[in-house]
Amino acid sequence: MLITIPSVLWPDQVAHARGLLGKAAWADGKATAGAQSALAKNNQQLPYDCAEAKEIGETILKNLGQNALFISAALPKAIFPPLFNRYGAAERHSFGDHVDNAIRYLPHGRGRIRTDLSAALSLSERDSYDGGELVVEDTYGAHQVKLPPGDMILYPATSLHPVEPVTRGVRLASFFWIESMVRDDGRRTLLLDMDVAIRRLAESAGDHDPAIVSLTGCYHNLLRRWADA
Ligand code: NI
Repeated sequence: MLITIPSVLWPDQVAHARGLLGKAAWADGKATAGAQSALAKNNQQLPYDCAEAKEIGETILKNLGQNALFISAALPKAIFPPLFNRYGAAERHSFGDHVDNAIRYLPHGRGRIRTDLSAALSLSERDSYDGGELVVEDTYGAHQVKLPPGDMILYPATSLHPVEPVTRGVRLASFFWIESMVRDDGRRTLLLDMDVAIRRLAESAGDHDPAIVSLTGCYHNLLRRWADA
């Protein structure tokens, strides 16, 4: 499933984030890449521990914790602390074909997560840079993604996903991974479709309609079968 989560950050939060990132000390992005993806990766990243990354990351996680669409789509068990990257035209930054590592170690020995979903949150205005599209390849082909600032794309971490070269301006984004309570993308997609349909039905029929009570029960009983809580 490839899904956009709109307005994860509000415009004032995006503006504040851009201000912080403008004065942050960027490092070579290869630092967090695996051996294969280091060959394809040419961008800049903020170190885990830098104050700017921590502050914006906490805002993102707080907002996601209150975002019903994100929770329904991701069924998150654990979220990697948000990272930040910068692609500049002057440096011809890009990121070739790669798949993200399956397991990510949390900073400071705080365990590890399995990366079921990848997330990319846009922080730059779309007309402020050329190129820089995230291309997500799935069984339906290649999807070009260039979102307005504050919006986030959620996609299976199993996907091949290059980032096109930036040819004008600067592209700033946050990226991170989610371990889901439901590791299988097909099951997770089915649960999201069901949850969305039940919510729509409830708007017209009301929460206490017996059929909706029954469908809601089915949703939770499927989740109980499939979730690793
Ligand atoms: Ni990646």
